[in-house]
Amino acid sequence: MPLPTATLEVNEHSMKKASGAPVVDGQAVDSRAGKTESGMTRRQALGAIASAAWTTGVAAQMVMTEPARAQTSQNPAAKKALIDGLIAQMTVEEKVGQLRLISIGPEMSIGKLADEMAAGRVGATFNSVVRRDNRPLQEAAVKRSRLKIPVFFAYDIVHGHRTTFPIPLGLASSFNMAAIERMARISAVEACNDGVDMTYAPMVDISHDPRWGRTSEGFGEDPYLVSECARASVRGFQGESVDRPDSIMAVVKHFALYGAVEGGRDYNTVDMSELRMRQVYLPPYKAAIDAGAGGVMVALNSVNGIPATSNTWLLQDLLRKEWGFGGLAVSDHGAITELMKHGVARDAREAAKLAIKAGIDLSMADQVYLAELPGLLASGEITMAELDARVREVLGVKYDLGLFADPFLRMGSPADDPKDDKDESRLHRQPSREIARESIVLLENRNQTLPLKKAGTIALVGPAADTGLDILGSWSAQGVFDQAVTVRAGIEKAIQGKARLITARGANFTDDQKVVDYLNFLNWDYKEVVQDTRTPDAMIAEAVAIAQQADVVIAAVGESRGMSHESSSRVNIDLPGSQRALLKALKATGKPLVIVLMNGRPLAITWEKDNADALLETWYTGTEGGNAIADVLFGDYNPSAKLPISFPRSVGQIPTYYNYLRIGRPLTEGKPGNYTSQYFEEQNGALYPFGFGLSYSPFTLTDMKLSATRLPRGQRLTVEATLTNKGQYEGANVVQLYLSQSYASVARAIKELKGFQKVSLKPGESRVVRFEIGDDQLKFVNASLKEVVESGRFEVQLGLDSREVLEQSFELV
Ligand code: NOJ
Repeated sequence: MPLPTATLEVNEHSMKKASGAPVVDGQAVDSRAGKTESGMTRRQALGAIASAAWTTGVAAQMVMTEPARAQTSQNPAAKKALIDGLIAQMTVEEKVGQLRLISIGPEMSIGKLADEMAAGRVGATFNSVVRRDNRPLQEAAVKRSRLKIPVFFAYDIVHGHRTTFPIPLGLASSFNMAAIERMARISAVEACNDGVDMTYAPMVDISHDPRWGRTSEGFGEDPYLVSECARASVRGFQGESVDRPDSIMAVVKHFALYGAVEGGRDYNTVDMSELRMRQVYLPPYKAAIDAGAGGVMVALNSVNGIPATSNTWLLQDLLRKEWGFGGLAVSDHGAITELMKHGVARDAREAAKLAIKAGIDLSMADQVYLAELPGLLASGEITMAELDARVREVLGVKYDLGLFADPFLRMGSPADDPKDDKDESRLHRQPSREIARESIVLLENRNQTLPLKKAGTIALVGPAADTGLDILGSWSAQGVFDQAVTVRAGIEKAIQGKARLITARGANFTDDQKVVDYLNFLNWDYKEVVQDTRTPDAMIAEAVAIAQQADVVIAAVGESRGMSHESSSRVNIDLPGSQRALLKALKATGKPLVIVLMNGRPLAITWEKDNADALLETWYTGTEGGNAIADVLFGDYNPSAKLPISFPRSVGQIPTYYNYLRIGRPLTEGKPGNYTSQYFEEQNGALYPFGFGLSYSPFTLTDMKLSATRLPRGQRLTVEATLTNKGQYEGANVVQLYLSQSYASVARAIKELKGFQKVSLKPGESRVVRFEIGDDQLKFVNASLKEVVESGRFEVQLGLDSREVLEQSFELV
């Protein structure tokens, strides 16, 4: 697939030799060889040209005094000189313009946006995702505006761009960081081919509450796993260097703690001890930043009484001073205006003042900065230094993105523009299928119901069976519903000529018209949920009739994708009644029942657990979802995924995370007693624990060994165990390392994931799996909010899920 080629025309400022080739310090750039006469690469040269060009007339003509580095973003002197030079020339209006981020479409038409850019009143845009739209906007900025400062193009590329991969909860289920990096890399290449420079991802909000619809967008409940996923995503999106034509900048979100909104109610309050923040919720954001994420998106929620958007502790003390972050802080949609609704700003003027003082660089989709910053500056309520600090960060990311070197870096030439943006040739189907099947979790498999034979008659029913829209999941970027392989299409292809497939819808996702209306209202541009207008009884009767003719029944059920989305919190996490009724009727036929779940959050599926012959959690698998699901159903792929989040038994049991703190009166399993921590009507603990997932092959973990039972501080020990594939299918399993400290200066979690390895084994094969344990695994945050290692006894656990583990202990001395 062709990558966008960098354009040699930087802009009209580029210094040219008579030959027309750009020059750097008097040297021509040979565009074909990509080298200057002195051996600088073309990109280094362009970076230097741009720096010199934008600086001309401001500071003395800039000369690159130090050798150009391989990446323009690693040339801090040139970056600083360029930005200093620009800031010295900018009017207040132009500075404010740089802080304004506008969404194309409902907010502003392209024509109007181009004029605003030409006037220097907009610094960046989002939701503009085809080169034909982006090129004229960039031209308006770099040809028509006074200072020719490029704009950038951002978009929500969360789990794919043209090709849709599994939702993040599914990606995390793969426990395969290379797969996540691959997803992000491919997404970046696809996005760059559309002229996009930046993604609002990864979303790393830890969630302990599946009522929250945005649980689907994150990587689950565990700080270690989510941090690993965050790192892998950033590596993939940003590639070798973020100024490359096939890299996009990662903006980690939502900073901070958005996943802890009260009761799972979207946009709600977060009130949390700083100890818990640092132990559980903050590490993934930090991991993304340490991996080089160029930006953070600031959360819509408040944090301990102060909205994140105006929270100077969060955005200054923690993010910038403690973590040393110097990239972009972008507000979420309309969040500065919402400071008034939060009741911390009297009016728009105060909202703008609070946000800029807290350190919001870009104001997303509101006019408050534009309207208020000049007045605030004139009255002295904010200083020029405060404004410049924000402008500096916006210009800094433009520099890091390589846009001063080449504003059209990710757009190629018009001649290369795709004729059809949605063309099939733009998709990466094979990687999408490979990653999707790694994200499917096998929860039950009684009597080896799965894998199915490609023979006989198979009945496929359920509202999730034939829907290209739902299988893409929320935030599916430019994913096209018609290009998605449905479960039905995937099965048909897999069994072609070998077995007979008969189908019936069986039920709507829900019969609750109010819910349907809400979901259709959430998405204004198409009909999210299309109801079958037959009666529920008629639909069930049809499904039962085909089930009776079949050897096995596959029921594809779950949530329509809008149910697991922003602004889609649920009070009940059961399967909707219409679908439960269908499953009960199918069960009554006595035919083997395979339930294929499609949903974006843990559901309370006790009935399904007890009644399904086989149960698959497929999440939303993306463009190749149907093929991936068929691969698993028929054994062309042996499932290897594990749950990245616990499944509660009921909604009342939330939160159900595995790594809860030790308490004074824990319940001893199997010994219910008075005055211990429990609900008296329901068993404690998750229905399916974190890290759980079956394979078609039984795996064993044996012979656990610790290299020492006493560990001097500062040293490391090794733990190992033997993983064996005892079955007849080749397959992978995830060996998980948990640590637990029996006593410390603060109550510690009952166990914490500290490592995992996904190991693939042939039938009958064994492998010794080893982990090292040292300060990195032993440290924790103490009551003074410092990371410390404390001596004492540690239990080391190795398991194939978080519940069933081998255990040994050692003493840290
Ligand atoms: C609001 C969402 O909260 C955020 O995740 C997203 O990136 C922005 N809208 C832009 O679409």
